[in-house]
Amino acid sequence: MNPIPVLLDCDPGHDDAIAILLALGSPQVDLIGITTTFGNCSVGKATYNAQRILALARRPEVPVAAGAAAPLAGEAHIGDFIHGATGIDGPDLPEPLAAPDRREAVEFLRASILAAPHPVTVVATGPITNVARLLRDHPEVGPRIAEIVFMGGSTERGNTTPAAEFNAYADPEALDIVLTSGLPIRMVGLNLSHQALATRDVVARMRAMDHPVGRACADLMGFFGGTYSDVFDFAAPPVHDPCTIAALIDPGLITWHKSFVAVETEGRWTRGATVVDLHGRLDRPPNVEVALTLDVDAYWRLVLDALDRVGS
Ligand code: BDR
Ligand code: CA
Repeated sequence: MNPIPVLLDCDPGHDDAIAILLALGSPQVDLIGITTTFGNCSVGKATYNAQRILALARRPEVPVAAGAAAPLAGEAHIGDFIHGATGIDGPDLPEPLAAPDRREAVEFLRASILAAPHPVTVVATGPITNVARLLRDHPEVGPRIAEIVFMGGSTERGNTTPAAEFNAYADPEALDIVLTSGLPIRMVGLNLSHQALATRDVVARMRAMDHPVGRACADLMGFFGGTYSDVFDFAAPPVHDPCTIAALIDPGLITWHKSFVAVETEGRWTRGATVVDLHGRLDRPPNVEVALTLDVDAYWRLVLDALDRVGS
């Protein structure tokens, strides 16, 4: 099978960094470019961080284009309470080996999608502002998008407000544009990613790789685990974003349920909350394949094997 052409829109971010490395280490994925957004840190830092991860992986030829500094409406909400001042506090990472692409993210996405010989999969692991602007301003790309797979929302409660998950909360208007686009969409929410915990055993397997990629991943998980313990009292950090890439490589790792999904843009206490109608109570046409359960052991085998391939 030909590798799946993927554009990854992200805000690295500890778990975004692992998602980039997973894509680079998986022969089933052809990572044709990375675009960045505000989110876990400013867009400037996210761009720099993506490039440092590419330098770590010795893959500086993968283009990185910087995108949104703020959501479609309102102020940027930054997730430094989890990811630290740099967005990827913890490891010592190499400096970038290439300059960012000169194009703005939306233009880069548009051009890459239209130039690709096959429909492209768009994966979003941060606030989904760039993808929403792409669909809103360049509807001609729609037929050239195979699917959009995003990390965000939840079938349950939030992690940024009691009701809302971080990526959805950071730009609900953008998520609304994506959810109502009519394109094939898969959602990996907190209900799924909270199953993907980097336990002590997982972190030990990263460190035992004994190469810079394995050690950097273990250090990333060390910092991330610390804030998840302090802020949420988790025993191990949930490694959200790579679940999207894993879903491309092996959709059978996850059970899916097609449901109507919407995002709250107006609630007094619930702005950014995703409404996932698992039982069809709203009687609306289902628009999203929603991730429900993860084969945890198989997930970590797939992720760790890929990280080891990148570093070896
Ligand atoms: C999401 O928010 C960020 O902290 C992570 O990178 C992930 O994309 C989880 O809510
Ligand atoms: Ca992210």
